[in-house]
Amino acid sequence: MLKFRKAKHKILVTSALPYANGPIHLGHLVEYIQTDIFVRFLRLIGEDVTYVCADDAHGAPIEIKATELGIKPEQLIAEVYNEHVQDFREFLISFDNYYTTNSPENKRYSDLFFERLSKKGFIYTKEIEVTYCEHDKRYLPDRYVKGKCPKCGAADQYGDVCENCNAAYKTVDLIEPYCIICKNKPVRKKSKHYFFRLSKFSKKLERWLAKNKNLQPEIKNFVFNWIKNGLEDWNISRDGPYFGFNIPGENDKYYYVWLDAPIGYIASTENYCRKHDLKTEDYWNNKNSRIHHFIGKDIIYFHFLFWPAMLLGAGFELPHDIVVHGFLTVNGEKMSKSRGTFFTAREFLQSHNPEYLRFYYASLLSKKMSDVDLSFDDFRKKINNELASNIGNFCYRVLNFLNRHFDGEIKETDKNNELKEVMQKRTKNIEENYYALNFNEAVKDILHISSLGNKYFQDNEPWKIVKENREKAHRVLGFCTNIVKDLCILLEPILPDFSSKLLQQLNLKSLKWEDLKFELKNHKIGKDAILIKKTDEKEATPEFPLNLRVARILQVKEHPNADKLYVLEIDIGTEKRQLVAGLREHYRIDELINKKIIVITNLKHAKLRGVESQGMLLAGDDGINVGVLTVEESVPGDRVYFEGFENSNKEIDYDGFSKLKMVVKNNKVYFEDKELRTDKEIVRVEKVKDNAKVR
Ligand code: 2FM
Ligand code: ZN
Repeated sequence: MLKFRKAKHKILVTSALPYANGPIHLGHLVEYIQTDIFVRFLRLIGEDVTYVCADDAHGAPIEIKATELGIKPEQLIAEVYNEHVQDFREFLISFDNYYTTNSPENKRYSDLFFERLSKKGFIYTKEIEVTYCEHDKRYLPDRYVKGKCPKCGAADQYGDVCENCNAAYKTVDLIEPYCIICKNKPVRKKSKHYFFRLSKFSKKLERWLAKNKNLQPEIKNFVFNWIKNGLEDWNISRDGPYFGFNIPGENDKYYYVWLDAPIGYIASTENYCRKHDLKTEDYWNNKNSRIHHFIGKDIIYFHFLFWPAMLLGAGFELPHDIVVHGFLTVNGEKMSKSRGTFFTAREFLQSHNPEYLRFYYASLLSKKMSDVDLSFDDFRKKINNELASNIGNFCYRVLNFLNRHFDGEIKETDKNNELKEVMQKRTKNIEENYYALNFNEAVKDILHISSLGNKYFQDNEPWKIVKENREKAHRVLGFCTNIVKDLCILLEPILPDFSSKLLQQLNLKSLKWEDLKFELKNHKIGKDAILIKKTDEKEATPEFPLNLRVARILQVKEHPNADKLYVLEIDIGTEKRQLVAGLREHYRIDELINKKIIVITNLKHAKLRGVESQGMLLAGDDGINVGVLTVEESVPGDRVYFEGFENSNKEIDYDGFSKLKMVVKNNKVYFEDKELRTDKEIVRVEKVKDNAKVR
């Protein structure tokens, strides 16, 4: 047992720095949860481990988002920082330090890298052509230009990388480029830029890759190939205006965000060390320290080539391991706002315990680059059958029985050496698999131990023998309590909150890996309680009480008994329906015929002045004008929804409907900040002003 324990080195672990331009989502969390489980395991076995991270606060993505919101980048990054910290806390990500790249430490280290690399001749300047907008009178770096990808031809791609084919290129390479601010075509302008001689590092990088036995082989192969095909020097500067660090000696030139972002790992370490009276060099300039980076497969190039080359050039240690994980898919597909499968961390928290996601991800994660699929069906099964019915139930059953029949006290433990051995063998596997990042295997063995516990309890029937052979029943409970204690330790990296509550129920102070022995006896536990509840299917996606569909108006007649109402015949894809609508003062009949509108199909049918209305159409009303909601590309029957919400099929009455606050902004409809849309487009509202109500 414990063959990895107490190495003499310091371990530094990092996760990739999230951009400070938006919320943490379930895709991000794959990585933070993966890293956190590893870190918590290392702490548990007694390693000297430090986990640092930071917000990636510079560059075009941040500036663009700030402009969109009409605030300064500084304000944006401060707000996002607080949100990120909060989200990470909720998901129990146990950073030792969470910092920002817009920090004095990072400026100092970025300048240090720049200076050292310049002195050694690894940086040179060159005039190149860059994109410039004559209309906005500014340079257009990276994401400030969009156009067709020069490699795969996909439309509407950013100026730096294509999200379709992952190719990286220059803004001037885009086909049919346009400025994202004014949509005009940019011109090309000459400008001096700083380049890092990546090409000079090919040999050294190859040697490092070959020597390092921790790196995933499939990724090494990729990288070897890139090197073989020749590395291009790397432009590390951007023209102002740019939100970033000014290059020393330059007026309006800045480090490219990808230069100072990874240096942010060191800056965050420095910030941590200062607070704890430690030395940054002990991590970054020490042959015996070990640096583990965790990243997604989209940023391999930066971490396997640029970053180690910069470290080599500036005289720092190279990473011990760079763990690359795949992307998150939801129900087998890329997360998508339009399909309603994009969830922020916060949205998930509205209906789920964050530890469920930790458990679910853990049960899928290994040291492989394969994608991780969140299938809500599978999620529910895992939580209900494995976490709740197996683990949660066993722990509760044992502690509850002990409290009810033995006043919570165990004495001796049943000597079932055979079972003990089986469990200890599994425990050893778990240790190895945590260490090797094969959490999926660790979870399997933990579940197996718990199943064996359940079976042992069941087979021994303590509820029966407690009457005939009380001592035997007591020893059985002693044995089971030891299993519960072991599960509490084994699960801590994945379920720290569950584990700490269970620890309290066990009336134990703290547990380490070395306490995985069947030695607990003559001990009185505390109060028991159910810790894991089953999850309900419907909670997977929050429900929106309306069922909205696209409909086409086929016919319009005047209502026989009301001069403000029309009677419409509409096609909702699957059937024709009749609606009564108060549009007569706002639309002529010919303006309505053939229009594609949005209707509520699950509204209780009603009679309006003697004519039946089988549903209702949605329209904006600002007090003066009334304008219908309409679409162009979508067809009758298409689903209409707010991102992240599932339409409901339950009938709703008019009262229920009128309580919903949907509001108009820029001719679009919002509910809790989500836009109303179909899979094909955003729904538009005709005629009305901002803040109009939708009814
Ligand atoms: O891809 C990203 O989201 C980057 N913000 C990751 C940076 S990781 C590190 F190198 F800074
Ligand atoms: Zn422009």
